[in-house]
Amino acid sequence: MARVHEQRGTMEEITALAKRRGFMFPSSEIYGGIAGFFDYGPLGALLKRNVKEAWWRENVTKRDDVVAFDASIIMHPEIWQASGHIDQFHDKLIDCRTCKHRFRADQLSSLEKCPDCGTKGSLTEPRNFNLMLQTFLGPMQDSASTAYLRPETAQGIFVNFKNVYQTARKRPPFGIAQIGKAFRNEITPGNFTYRMREFEQAEMEYFVPDDGSDMAIYAQWVAARKKWYADYGVKSERLRFYELSADERPHYARAGTDVEYEFPWGWGELESIAHRGTYDLDAHMKRSGKDLRYFDEATKSHYTPLLIESSAGIDRTTLVMLVDAYDTERSPDRVVLRFHPQIAPVQAAVFSLARNKPDLVERSRSIEQGLRTTVRTQYDDGNIGQLYRRQDEIGTPFCITVDYETMQDGTVTVRERDSMRQERLSADRIPQYLNERLGPQTNQ
Ligand code: GAP
Repeated sequence: MARVHEQRGTMEEITALAKRRGFMFPSSEIYGGIAGFFDYGPLGALLKRNVKEAWWRENVTKRDDVVAFDASIIMHPEIWQASGHIDQFHDKLIDCRTCKHRFRADQLSSLEKCPDCGTKGSLTEPRNFNLMLQTFLGPMQDSASTAYLRPETAQGIFVNFKNVYQTARKRPPFGIAQIGKAFRNEITPGNFTYRMREFEQAEMEYFVPDDGSDMAIYAQWVAARKKWYADYGVKSERLRFYELSADERPHYARAGTDVEYEFPWGWGELESIAHRGTYDLDAHMKRSGKDLRYFDEATKSHYTPLLIESSAGIDRTTLVMLVDAYDTERSPDRVVLRFHPQIAPVQAAVFSLARNKPDLVERSRSIEQGLRTTVRTQYDDGNIGQLYRRQDEIGTPFCITVDYETMQDGTVTVRERDSMRQERLSADRIPQYLNERLGPQTNQ
């Protein structure tokens, strides 16, 4: 019978599944939660790790022109002066004098009355609200000891440009990549893990000689990022690459593209790709008085390379993988997460048909243990219908069942998640079967 696909999941359904199956939990839940912070459960931690691995593999491991980096989260406060974050990293904030609720000015359709309590004339004038989270270093808590949790990972790369190119012996064009935590004191965190106050970024800063090749390299990065999302199965009709006009991008940027995904609540940014000219290195050279230009041995001259940046949100990409994979079907009714096999937290589940048959349990456990070093596996046993239902809901591409026949002839049932097709295979052939279908295993 042909299966009927329902509409895509709502955010309520997806967040309920995320909680029920252990993908994400609100942080500090037993104390009532803390807005803008989330914890990743056993499956969510694997999902997020796989997203990071997939990004890293493509942007660092497979390329000889991008090197790895890992900067500290707290850096010298002058970095944020030079970058403009202290003076300009603001959202406009409006308060309601009656109910004391706070709003981002760009999210209010009218300033006439408070959207929460309805009081007319209670909203304040918009004022600047700096998004950086502050802390203090050492025993004193004053302006001299103020430090900031980085609002982006990129600045750690810019200030280390010279250290990296000299030690890695790289000459432009080449890139520096890192994945790491960033913090923003968002006024209105929300939409599950979309807008958080603590999140992870994957940033790649590509330094290009000013020889006329920059726009072609920028276009190559946009194409490479487009291919990455397609390779990992993000539905093309829910993804758009929005090219920013000159009016929409900062004055120094020569080009910019926002990667956007159509979430159940509407379009939201996942990544920004930008041609930032020499702005960042210039700003740090000016403030620090240090020369960060590249010294070209061939021409014995210095120059400031141009910069192409790809800055993606890991939590947002992880959320996209979850939202995009979510599917409900009728005939038979089921919820299934159609994760790409490299992204799926569990790639193969091994079941024993009966929990109380020691020989079946032992055989299934031994098959599962044998696969464990190359495939992300899970062992389970019990009612087969419930077992399939659970694995569909966590997006496991293959389920392998050990039953009484296995004990006779050494065959097992392999069931494929999307088609639900089942076939009988010799247990010895399982590693090869999975290898052919799951692709290269690099994140074990
Ligand atoms: N270095 C450039 C930069 O940071 P951005 O557009 O401000 O650019 C890049 O941030 C990406 O970081 C965004 O596209 C988004 O995926 C992620 N991001 C930014 N703020 C976030 C937040 N509050 N919560 C989750 N992810 C966020």
